[in-house]
Amino acid sequence: MSTRIKQIIASTDTDRKISVNGWVRTRRDAGSFSFIEINDGSTLKNLQIIADERLSNYSEQIKKLSTGCAIVVSGELKESPAKGQAVELHADSIEVIGWANPEEYPLQKKRHSFEFLREITHLRPRTNALGAIARVRSRLSYSVHNFFQEHGFHQIHTPVITTSDCEGAGEMFSVTTDNIERDQADKNFFGKAAGLTVSGQLQAEVYALSLGDVYTFGPTFRAENSNTSRHLSEFWMLEPEMAFCDLSGNVRIAEEMLKYLLSDTLEHCQEDMLLFDTFIAKGVIDKLESVINNSFGQITYTEAIDTLLKTNKKFEFPVSWGIDMQAEHERYLTEEVFKKPLIVTDYPAAIKPFYMRVNDDNKTVAAMDILVPGIGEIIGGSQREERYDILYQRMLDANIDVQEYEWYLDLRKYGSVPHSGFGLGFERLVQYVSGMANIREVIPFPRTPGSAPC
Ligand code: 4AD
Ligand code: MG
Repeated sequence: MSTRIKQIIASTDTDRKISVNGWVRTRRDAGSFSFIEINDGSTLKNLQIIADERLSNYSEQIKKLSTGCAIVVSGELKESPAKGQAVELHADSIEVIGWANPEEYPLQKKRHSFEFLREITHLRPRTNALGAIARVRSRLSYSVHNFFQEHGFHQIHTPVITTSDCEGAGEMFSVTTDNIERDQADKNFFGKAAGLTVSGQLQAEVYALSLGDVYTFGPTFRAENSNTSRHLSEFWMLEPEMAFCDLSGNVRIAEEMLKYLLSDTLEHCQEDMLLFDTFIAKGVIDKLESVINNSFGQITYTEAIDTLLKTNKKFEFPVSWGIDMQAEHERYLTEEVFKKPLIVTDYPAAIKPFYMRVNDDNKTVAAMDILVPGIGEIIGGSQREERYDILYQRMLDANIDVQEYEWYLDLRKYGSVPHSGFGLGFERLVQYVSGMANIREVIPFPRTPGSAPC
């Protein structure tokens, strides 16, 4: 691996020979020289190459270089007299590795719309914005592991193919072998209906009740027909699960984790964050700093409904106690009332899944959602029902085949303890951090109803 541009431009060690690979961003000819900006994806910044006409392939090749061509440059790293860059590379040789026909290459120097870029998913990471998103996403993922590992959590690889529908919302994609010719008896490959996981929570609970604090972080699938700027059919979810932990402990760790992830991004992705702050969402850096330095708001669902009922604001979906709050309600609370992240707890049992712990009022469950301005729900979680009889009844009420979930009930039979967890929608987090308006820009290959590029 040759030295990456990120290291080169940060170096003060000039007047030395180096070799670097990259893709041409621009070429400008000036008299007996050409200035070539190259980028290798290691950083937002380009490295400026000075190519002298005395190079053997100057007129044959270098003067034909255009955006997208791949080159290898060897030469001397010099301090740069130009503004905006500390160093530049004076080429001794430039080898063209891969041409990109300028008549056909879809990425030109101008800015392209994100809608257009979605049509070229395989090329869009070469743009500044999508490259920055990819780097920030990678850092956030690394930082998720750091946070939980530093806190003594163990990562559990929960299954992608599962026979349990955690959320019970009927949004599971089925896994079948319909396309393979077999006899009918073999139709259910796993002996029963299976699908792609909608959440690793139930399996994470198994390990939490053996190892204490665990997390699972992987792809999750939902066949909901929601064509919105915050829904994907395939998304990544981070799900910690903690034994001997009640709802308030759950809320505390979620807030601490979010702040940790935001600080780490601001510290390690400064250039990329500056790009978002300048071109994508003005003020996003200040916003994140303020989130880190202030406590989140917190109210119960009942208080949230009261607040919505009192306002003069008109909502498309009518408000009453018992409704599943819509994005417009959530956004009003977090954007206009609290103006910061908001934790909402204790939702009506009737609108939440069977596994959430029933509160003493018998009407609500120990649920918690975290809502953020601009997006709405980013985290959903709860304390889990650890009492066998109550869970059993909740499952019957939800028409769940209790036989299929015997293993889950067993966890309440043998050494049951209070435990809690939550799910963070990883793309919604990347959206929040970058200020990107549409979730399709923050996952490399978005899957949505009617669309699955590459
Ligand atoms: O609120 P949800 O459905 O919670 C669960 O699945 C729990 N089993 C998690 C747990 O307690 N371990 O989903 C959690 C989060 C949401 O808050 C949202 O951020 C994200 O996952 N999410 C989606 N993100 C993108 N596209 C979708 N279709 C999403 N559905 C949920
Ligand atoms: Mg939810």
